[in-house]
Amino acid sequence: QRTVRVGLLGLGTVGSGVLKALSQNGESIAERTGCRIEIPYILVRNPEKKRNVEVAREQIITDPDLILTSPDIPIIIEVMGGLEPARTIILKSLRSGKHVITANKELLAKHGAELLQTAEEAGVQLLFEASVAGGIPVIRFLQGYLTANRVQEVSGILNGTTNYILTKMEQTGQSFGEVLVQAQELGYAEADPTSDVEGFDAAYKLAILTNLAFDVKVPVHDIPREGITRLQPLDLQWAREFGYVIKLLGRSRRTEQGIELSVGPRLLPLTHPLARVNDVFNAVMISSDVVGDLTFIGKGAGEYPTASAVLEDLMALLQNSGNVLRSSSWNTPLQQFEGRTEVQ
Ligand code: NAP
Ligand code: HSE
Repeated sequence: QRTVRVGLLGLGTVGSGVLKALSQNGESIAERTGCRIEIPYILVRNPEKKRNVEVAREQIITDPDLILTSPDIPIIIEVMGGLEPARTIILKSLRSGKHVITANKELLAKHGAELLQTAEEAGVQLLFEASVAGGIPVIRFLQGYLTANRVQEVSGILNGTTNYILTKMEQTGQSFGEVLVQAQELGYAEADPTSDVEGFDAAYKLAILTNLAFDVKVPVHDIPREGITRLQPLDLQWAREFGYVIKLLGRSRRTEQGIELSVGPRLLPLTHPLARVNDVFNAVMISSDVVGDLTFIGKGAGEYPTASAVLEDLMALLQNSGNVLRSSSWNTPLQQFEGRTEVQ
């Protein structure tokens, strides 16, 4: 067995999940891949913070250069979030020949084209399964499988925090604020939960899925977007009385005018396939011309589902299957951009 040294950027919800899952399954990963994973350095902001996972003091660093300048660290996992310094660190890593795994949907939605081009020029992989829908392997699916089809529509529940909030508000009558605190405690919410509850996070994920499904570059700021902050428990309870549930849905679809995108709360009939997707679960529906409709459901946030996606990317690199992934230019402009925000 050979040892593969991996630099970890971030030790919050996802970073801790990665370490816990590695300690749980490190042996079987080593058996399957012939590689023993070692994490020599973990980048954090506050080295004094108490951690909920066991780490040695010498692993914790605050200077990313220790990772960037180590020639014997061929892979980095970025789970720190935010645009900077994450973008600069990832670009430097790629340029110095390191493969990068990231869960950072905001960064990908806004700078994905630049990062993917840099990876391609450097001959390394940029993998980002954890950036959309937690443990659901939808990125790999769009990149590596659905290539003989023409995708017509991608839609789904793309944010676990808001789905958890809507579910609990309806089931318990608790207020938006009370349930948001629970979602934060469970590690589902972003560092700034505005991103979740105002629909930005779902818009980032929709942009990534749309990039891959339709091979277009999506101006993420232009996606018509509405959050869930104005909803009350009574709205949800009344909707059910009339045979509906309210879900925060992201949707992009091919129209004669171009690709139409939107994010917002939608009324779904109780018979709809996504109506019973509750709590932190996410769902992604893909409609394509040959295969028809496919629906993926799974946990969309939290330490273990997200760690699973990160580690599956790591396995892909270790097993050298990363290079079978179809690259997408992310640069083709949308022919026409048209959004709709009304309840459908
Ligand atoms: P988090 O709990 O806030 O953890 C962030 C970690 O990164 C912390 O350890 C923090 O250090 C470190 N960090 C942040 N900024 C830093 C900086 N400038 N320099 C050094 N270290 C820095 O976040 P998270 O929930 O794990 O999410 C991480 C990423 O994964 C984000 O991009 C998020 O969108 C994405 N993601 C999260 C989930 C989820 O369920 N939580 C799911 C999918 C994707 P300190 O600990 O010292 O503060
Ligand atoms: N805050 C995000 C969510 C994390 O709730 O879906 C997973 O991307």
